[in-house]
Amino acid sequence: LSGERIDLPQDDIPRKWYNIIPDLPEPLPAYKDAISGREIKRLPETYTKTASNLEFSEQRWIEIPDEVVSAYIQCGRPRPLIRAHRLEKYLKTPARIYYKCEDLPPAGTFKTNTALPQAYWAMKEGYSRTVSVGGSKTRTKFAHVFAAKTFRLTPTIFMTRADCEQNRDQVFFLKKMFEADLLESPSNRTKTGRIYLKENPVHPGSIRIAMEEIAEEAMLSRDAVAVTSSFLNHVLLTQTIMGLEFEKQLELIDEEPNILIASVGAGSSFYGLIAPFMRDHLKKKLDNVKFLAVESETSSKLTDGEYEYISIQGPMAGLLVKAYELEWEPPPPPIRGEGIKTKNTAPILSLLRYLGVIDTIVYPKDEKAILEAARIFLQTEGHLLAPESAYAVRAAIDESIEAKKMGETKVIVVSVSATTYLEFGEKGGYTSTIGPLPRGIRPF
Ligand SMILES: Cc1ncc(COP(=O)(O)O)c(C=O)c1O
Repeated sequence: LSGERIDLPQDDIPRKWYNIIPDLPEPLPAYKDAISGREIKRLPETYTKTASNLEFSEQRWIEIPDEVVSAYIQCGRPRPLIRAHRLEKYLKTPARIYYKCEDLPPAGTFKTNTALPQAYWAMKEGYSRTVSVGGSKTRTKFAHVFAAKTFRLTPTIFMTRADCEQNRDQVFFLKKMFEADLLESPSNRTKTGRIYLKENPVHPGSIRIAMEEIAEEAMLSRDAVAVTSSFLNHVLLTQTIMGLEFEKQLELIDEEPNILIASVGAGSSFYGLIAPFMRDHLKKKLDNVKFLAVESETSSKLTDGEYEYISIQGPMAGLLVKAYELEWEPPPPPIRGEGIKTKNTAPILSLLRYLGVIDTIVYPKDEKAILEAARIFLQTEGHLLAPESAYAVRAAIDESIEAKKMGETKVIVVSVSATTYLEFGEKGGYTSTIGPLPRGIRPF
């Protein structure tokens, strides 16, 4: 057997993360203080010192601590790269499609790649709790809870009251199985929460309030520190473990990629996948490659947004960073792929887009094509995709159909960023959107 599944031996797991900042053709625009406009070179004290140092590091290669390497290995890294033979056959395409599996247990999401080192830094710096926001629609909270437990910390999670009420099974799972310190936001724990509760004792909460609560909790409690899941440089840095593994995996089978695809919210999975290839592309060692960021019509920042200094919420309040932002008036409707429905994209990815080295594609908010891709992928490859991952697979399907039209043998690599198996509500999401199957349904 060759080329079905490309595994790296455990000993070949990357030992360093790759930092693209010194290889960018222009300096990354500085972070600024929102009031004075002065350049900032430190993150707020709500984050670990390590995160803050790495955020501004100019060092190209950053050693991964041994304990984090061990944790990566214990949870299944290096992750397999799989050739999607059955999908290719189904599509009758000459393209060769590979997918990087980040959907495997224990947490079933690529967010574990950053949650583990962040929890490790917190432990090393003497904290006993990590604090994060838990949205009910994505798997990120499982990654942070699992990572905190891995390093014997208590995970504190603020989840909106509305989300908790609508997802009692998740609340049970987080509170009773993981024994997380789960708080319904607004909560009585913080001053911010108490103000909102005074206004309305059954306040449904919002992500903005939950972000304010984590900022306060991390700032005022000596034992707690904020962890985050995307956007910031240090998060993107830790996600390069995916691209570095996959670079070695392609070398093993002597393939060069033509199209690299992932869905994009703030952009950590896309960046993590493409970073080493982008370096080669910027250095003119790799051409004929397309970096394809997949967006939803609700949040097409890289396609339709403006590249400008923006202020962000929560622990980063008070800072200005330069990033793509999309105007959100009126607020966009809910979608299944909530994890990619963000207003902004990370500063590094924003600069790369501004420099014209990233392509984008936008799919309509009805998500019919996305859910169809999820169904085809389940039937051909057997993975039940998180909706965000289904966006990327949709784009891979469309690119391979195009390759077929043009008679081109493209090598397409797509990020399967997470599963839906763990996500109780999301399964309902698929069934309620797809509805009963009409007779004789054909995907194309
Ligand atoms: C499964 C999955 N894929 C992709 C994303 C997008 O995140 P990012 O834009 O940081 O890659 C998310 C965000 O929650 C997610 O849950």
